[in-house]
Amino acid sequence: MKLSNKIALVTGGTSGIGLEAAKLFRQEGANVIIVGTNQVRLEAAAGQIGDGVTALRADVTKSGDVESVVSQIREKFGRIDVVFANAGMGLAAPLEAVTEEQIDTQFDVNFKGVFFTVQKAAPLLAKGGSIVVTTSFLNEVGTPGLSILSATKAALRSLVRSLGAELAPQGIRVNAVSPGPISTPFHSKLGLSSKQLDETASAIEEQVPLHRFGEPVEIARAALFLASDDSAFTTGSELVVDGGMSQL
Ligand SMILES: NC(=O)c1ccc[n+]([C@@H]2O[C@H](COP(=O)([O-])OP(=O)(O)OC[C@H]3O[C@@H](n4cnc5c(N)ncnc54)[C@H](OP(=O)(O)O)[C@@H]3O)[C@@H](O)[C@H]2O)c1
Repeated sequence: MKLSNKIALVTGGTSGIGLEAAKLFRQEGANVIIVGTNQVRLEAAAGQIGDGVTALRADVTKSGDVESVVSQIREKFGRIDVVFANAGMGLAAPLEAVTEEQIDTQFDVNFKGVFFTVQKAAPLLAKGGSIVVTTSFLNEVGTPGLSILSATKAALRSLVRSLGAELAPQGIRVNAVSPGPISTPFHSKLGLSSKQLDETASAIEEQVPLHRFGEPVEIARAALFLASDDSAFTTGSELVVDGGMSQL
C-alpha cells in the first residue's frame, strides 16, 4: 500500500475529486481526515469511506476554522503526512457582469482557503511530507466567462512554486494536480442554467482531445502519485490530467 499508516488531510473531501481521493488514500492505508462546510455531506462522505476516516466541519476561508482542524489532528494523531488542499468552487460570469463579491468569494475559497490549509498544516508535517494542491487546466487557457476562477488557479500554480521553494529545506514537497473538465457537481454550482450547462458540456466534449469528461478517480490517482513516495523527487511541479485540453 502506498500510504500505509500515513495521516492524510483532504479538504473538499465531501464531494467529487476530494471524495474519490479520500477513498483511494484510505484504500492505500492512510488515516484520512476530510473537511467540508456541511455536516450532512460530511457524514454521508464518511459513511462512503468507512472506518479510518475523521470528518471535520470547517470553512477553509476562515483561518480560525482551519487552525481548529489542525489542532484536532494534532491531538488525535500528532502529525500530518499528506495534505490534499483541494476545496474549491467557481462562478461563471462575463467581464461586464463580474461583481466584487464574486471576485472575493472565489479568491477566498480557492486561494486563501488553500493558503490557510498549507500554512496551518505545515508545522505538523515532517521530512518526507507531501502537499498536493488542486489547480485547473484553466490556468493555461483562456475561457470566456471564467476569468476570475482561472485567475485563482493561476495564483495557486504560482503558490505551489513559492511554497515548494520555502518548504524544500525541510524535505516537504509541494505539487499541484491540474484537472481538466471532470464529472463532478462542480459544474452545477457555476451559476449556469441547465441549458447553458448542456451546451457547455457538449462544447467541452468536442474541445477535449480525448473527447470526454474525466472521472474524479483519474484525478485521485494522480493525487495519490504526488502524495506518495512514488514522486519523492518531484516538487514545485504540476501534474496535468486534462485529456490534452491545455497541452495539445
Ligand atoms: N470538476 C472539474 O471539472 C474541475 C476542473 C478543474 C479543477 N477542479 C478543481 O477540483 C477541486 C474539487 O472540485 P470538484 O470538481 O470535486 O467539485 P465539488 O464536487 O463541487 O467539490 C468541492 C468540494 O469543496 C468543498 N468546499 C467548497 N467550499 C469550501 C469551503 N469554503 N470550505 C471547505 N470546503 C469547501 C465542498 O464541500 P462542501 O460543499 O460540503 O462544503 C466539496 O467537498 C476544486 O478545487 C476545483 O476547482 C475541478
